[in-house]
Amino acid sequence: MAEEYAVPKLENFLAEALSESANGLRAALNREVSRLALGAFQAAKCKAPFEIEVKAFRDRWLGRKTGIVTQINEVWLRAAPDEHKKAVGQIVNELRAEIQREVNEAVDEARAASLLTPSELREVGADFRQFFLESQRLDITLPGIRRPIGAEHPVIRALNEIVAVFKAMGYSVSEGPEIETDYYNFVALNFPPNHPARDTQDTLFIAGQQSKPPRDRLLLRTHTSPVQIRTMEKLAPPIRVVIPGKVHRNDAPDASHSPMFHQVEGLAVDTNITFCDLKGTLDHAMKALFGSSVRTRFQPSFFPFTEPSAEVAISCIFCGGKGCRTCKQGGWIELLGCGMVDPNVFEFVRNNGYDPAKVSGFAFGMGADRIALLKYGVDDIQLFFQGDVRFLEQFA
Ligand code: PHE
Repeated sequence: MAEEYAVPKLENFLAEALSESANGLRAALNREVSRLALGAFQAAKCKAPFEIEVKAFRDRWLGRKTGIVTQINEVWLRAAPDEHKKAVGQIVNELRAEIQREVNEAVDEARAASLLTPSELREVGADFRQFFLESQRLDITLPGIRRPIGAEHPVIRALNEIVAVFKAMGYSVSEGPEIETDYYNFVALNFPPNHPARDTQDTLFIAGQQSKPPRDRLLLRTHTSPVQIRTMEKLAPPIRVVIPGKVHRNDAPDASHSPMFHQVEGLAVDTNITFCDLKGTLDHAMKALFGSSVRTRFQPSFFPFTEPSAEVAISCIFCGGKGCRTCKQGGWIELLGCGMVDPNVFEFVRNNGYDPAKVSGFAFGMGADRIALLKYGVDDIQLFFQGDVRFLEQFA
């Protein structure tokens, strides 16, 4: 139902204000009368009772205690200062008579219309359609409502930029579910049940799944790496894919952590893929993202699903590596994890052509939010997720 009409207070009691308010009231009555008539025809069509609606309409306008006619008396006539009482009284009297006449007419017509038989309805069909169209009349020359156009969110923009860098090297794009099974998030990535490496990726588990075998239980994925397995199950080697997406961890929010964040995963599998390919690919990607003067550093690390594994840092883009506040004087900014796909991982997809004796590959995973922080000079990751238009507008 459209917003209900309420008798407005008068700004002043001069003829002009009064007639403007009276016109507003007439327009509201017209709208309700049309609506009532339409409802009556509809009721006749479905043979539904309509008396309750008719009564409600009558009471709304003529009801003794709170009807609109009574309200006019209170709000317009009684409130009028003495010197205007006479003039206001005259107008209110006329208006009252007019409303009573129209409401009673509308009530009679609606009652009659609601009782029309199917054949009578057919007879008035043409009128009804005309009436219906009139009631729906719309002035299409009125100016529209301007909807502000949003901007691409900075994290999505970073995701897209990263993906574009790899697309240009021949990678395709893949995606996977954010609610994942224990099998894909952990087991097939060589995190056995109860392995301590799982502690580094604590997350939210979906409740009430005790009846399922552990590997089928659902959780919010802690990284995009499960999509490595999903992709290898679908596509035989050789493959080169990047996988952008949202991930979750049990991390307390602060300027550089969020329990929800974004990653771009990469996976390349072929015959004779070496660590050199990994280094060359990531070095190129970092230069494409941060500028050609950026250098990369690979340090040994550990992930259950890659062997050997490395942590990649770039030379600080703010000080060029000399040391500043952003790089905590170290000259390097750690940005991603990577490594050669562990043969144990290939074992889980061996049947699809991934015999670890025949193929090799590398994988990497980078945090898109951190990259967005650096690229766009933002100092607090929380700003990305607070939905503050003043922040987001700056990326329009
Ligand atoms: N999945 C790892 C993480 O989230 C990153 C990674 C991806 C490391 C692929 C190696 C290879 O920390």
